[in-house]
Amino acid sequence: MSSQTLSAMEGGERIVTLENHIIDSQKEVPGASGAFSALLSSIGIAGKIISREVRRAGLIDILGLTGDTNVQGERVTKLDIYAHNLLTRVMARCGQVCGMASEEHPSFLQVPSDLERGRYIVCFDPLDGSSNIDVNAAIGTIFGIWKTRHHPDECTEEDVLQPGSEIVGAGYVIYGSSTIFVYSSGRGVHAFTLDPSIGEFLLSHRDIKTPDRAKIYSCNEGNAYRWNHEGARRYITYLKSEDNAAGKPYSGRYIGSLVADFHRNLLDGGIFLYPADKRKPEGKLRLLFEAAPLAYICEQAGGAASTGWTAIRDVVPKKLHHRVPLIIGSRLDVEEAERFIQGQSATGAPAALERAGS
Ligand code: AHG
Ligand code: MN
Ligand code: MN
Repeated sequence: MSSQTLSAMEGGERIVTLENHIIDSQKEVPGASGAFSALLSSIGIAGKIISREVRRAGLIDILGLTGDTNVQGERVTKLDIYAHNLLTRVMARCGQVCGMASEEHPSFLQVPSDLERGRYIVCFDPLDGSSNIDVNAAIGTIFGIWKTRHHPDECTEEDVLQPGSEIVGAGYVIYGSSTIFVYSSGRGVHAFTLDPSIGEFLLSHRDIKTPDRAKIYSCNEGNAYRWNHEGARRYITYLKSEDNAAGKPYSGRYIGSLVADFHRNLLDGGIFLYPADKRKPEGKLRLLFEAAPLAYICEQAGGAASTGWTAIRDVVPKKLHHRVPLIIGSRLDVEEAERFIQGQSATGAPAALERAGS
């Protein structure tokens, strides 16, 4: 062999596709049947198809509103519906799922009896941040995977109402300047960037660890006057001062697309807050479709997620569209935000009483 050939083989990293990575991870789990790997691969395919539609949305006049509102009473764009329909179709036919819940559908979706059912339950926000589509900002798909507690043929809505502590895998696909698939199945958080020329997600960020201390805070500060807890307002004032733990003001960054705000903070260090407010005393973001899956990813990366009072993973959903206040990101910052929120009452009542009433 010539020396030229040898030097071509030296250096560089192994190119790892999402598929390779899922299969390699499966080998590390004794007795794994491959069902979970097949499910993740199916979500990867759905992510590629949604990415394609998002990329050409302007070209095929798919942009704009359907004129409908979803179960939450919010405006629904055509791509929300497209992504919802595609995910439900792909999940129902992958053979690994028995039930689903989607932000775009009011009730539990059982896989029809004429299709093969598996033991997994998938909850998803088909398109998060969709109000940003018209202005070409980053949006995404968020998913969480749980296991049914019953036989797949007997899976009901109750099986979906499980806390984040029971998640077996979660992730998101962000449609930004690149399309990136981020997932964890309990063995770290890994990100794969789509190479559109070959149609493959390639490993780009291995074992992501989020910084313990943030540089950035992300919240809709325009809502601050109506946040329910004075402590949340005091916390933001503190972050903007030089007397905070970082010794200098934090930078504010808010896209208004949770998946995009979360992704930036995950990589660079940051805290995202959507506190309870007077319009939405229960919080805005949805536990099963947004908060619990992202909390799982964040904790896997060394971060934390809280309602301000309770770890997100411990909140037991009371209904499919259960909402929660969400504080998520760098661990030390989330703990500090909790102390602010718990230490100050909005109403003058002791914090413990306020908590009992919320
Ligand atoms: P969705 O597009 O799935 O309805 O989610 C919208 C969410 C989330 O992405 C974002 O963090 C938040 O709404 C923004 O809310 P505000 O416009 O009230 O700040
Ligand atoms: Mn959303
Ligand atoms: Mn959505």
